[in-house]
Parts: sequence; C-alpha cells; structure tokens
Amino acid sequence: MAEVVIVPDQATGGDIAARRIASLVHAKPDAVLGLATGSTPLPVWSALVALRLDLARVGGFALDEYIGLPEGHPESYRAVITREVVEPLGLDPALVHVPAEGLSANALAGAGEAYEAAIRAAGGVDLQILGIGRTGHIGFNEPGSSLASLTRVKTLAQWTREDNARFFDGDVARVPQHCVTQGLGTILRAGQLVLLAWGESKAEAVAAAVEGPVTASVPASVIQLHRDVTVIVDEAAGSRLRYADYYRQAWDQRPEWDRR
Ligand code: F6R
Repeated sequence: MAEVVIVPDQATGGDIAARRIASLVHAKPDAVLGLATGSTPLPVWSALVALRLDLARVGGFALDEYIGLPEGHPESYRAVITREVVEPLGLDPALVHVPAEGLSANALAGAGEAYEAAIRAAGGVDLQILGIGRTGHIGFNEPGSSLASLTRVKTLAQWTREDNARFFDGDVARVPQHCVTQGLGTILRAGQLVLLAWGESKAEAVAAAVEGPVTASVPASVIQLHRDVTVIVDEAAGSRLRYADYYRQAWDQRPEWDRR
C-alpha cells in the first residue's frame, strides 16, 4: 500500500518531497529524477532550492511533452522544465531530457522507443515526481491507458485541455490535442514514486487512485502496483480518503528507521 501523508499546506508537502530527493541525492549524487510539470510540483522545487544542494550531476526525465507547439514556446514542457526546474535548481541541461525533443511530427512514431532507450541508458529513473489530473491521469495517461504502457503518443482528454487552458491565456483551442507521455509501465519502473495533489478538485481522483480498484479507467490507480509510493496531499485533496485517520496514525507513528 502507498504511504499517504496528509499535510496542512503545500509548503509542508513540498518540503517532505524535497527531503526525499535530498536523501536520494546524498546517497547517489548522480541520481535520476522523473519530472512532472504543471502546478503541483512547484512547492517541491522551491523547497529543494531552499535546501541548497549540489544537483549538478543529477539527471532528469520529463514525464511528457505537448505535440505541435513551436520550438521555444513558453508552455512547452521543455521550456517549463528549464524555467522551473533546471535553472533554479542548477541542474545540467545536458542531463535533462524531454520526450520527442527535436522530432518533426512525422518522426514521432519512434519517439517513444527512443525515450525508453534514453531512460535505460541513464540507468532508469530513481525517483518519479507525479501530479494527478482530475481524470485520474498521471503523466498524460488518460483513462483507458494500458497499465503496461510505455512512452507513446496520446490524445489529451477534453477535461485535461480545459484544465490546462490556464497556461494558454484561458483559450482551450490553443492547448495541443496530442502529447508524448511516459507510459504507466514506464512510471512503474522508477525506483520510488512520489505523487502530490492539492485542492478539492483532486479529491475524487486521489481517493480512486489510492483506495479504488486498480483499473485503466483510473490510470493513477496503477501506483498500487508499485512497492515504494508516497502520496502527499493537502487536507482538501485528501478529503475523500476513507482511511485518512489510519494514514495520519501511520505517518505520526512511523518507526525511526523509516523516516526518510
Ligand atoms: C504534467 C503531468 C500531468 C500533471 C497533472 C496535474 O507533466 O504529467 O499529469 O501532473 O495534469 O496538473 P497540475 O499539477 O497542473 O494540476
């Protein structure tokens, strides 16, 4: 079962996730991180900046990328990762990868395999940071995604495009229809998963992912198949969790040797 941590605010949650990353990097200075974009991980990056670690040898693989944005578009996930992660954290840009980079639309067929090969060549992702969409997606694996899927092209759900319109001046028509995303099988290969969620709008998806059946209809439920998962939610995002009291108890009483 996942370890579920219910925190009073995003800053506390970001700090817990940042400390996980810090202890990983302490043990393995060339660790490889899986990088979610969107709003959710921002408190993790700011908490990590505050820890002032040397992350120059740390590698990164973005979860996903839009298809069809012009190169250098400020909302392409390459641009977002550069602005929000690589620059503030002092990562080496040469070690940070985004799927389908530099490929023309008709070369996309091989993008998934190339990305999988790059992840393998880097020794795999050690710690994957995840957000969750209202559709229950992780990465851009929308409902119906194979639980064994690898990096590939997907079509974004309308709900997801509406949610992401806020990054495109509120104009849903400007949100790309397609993306390349790590698959659920790719995500499961990471050494540990840290999924974060904030706010009431995520509560249903979080409860379904953590406590519902494992099903392609709720892609994030695949995390139940992973041995090392931490789910960090604020009170609102955790408000539909049936076993919230138990999660609080387990966190408060976690043994000294299990405090990462
Ligand atoms: C982003 C990603 C998505 C987001 C999810 C939540 O790389 O893979 O799964 O994590 O859409 O988005 P936010 O964090 O903006 O609510």
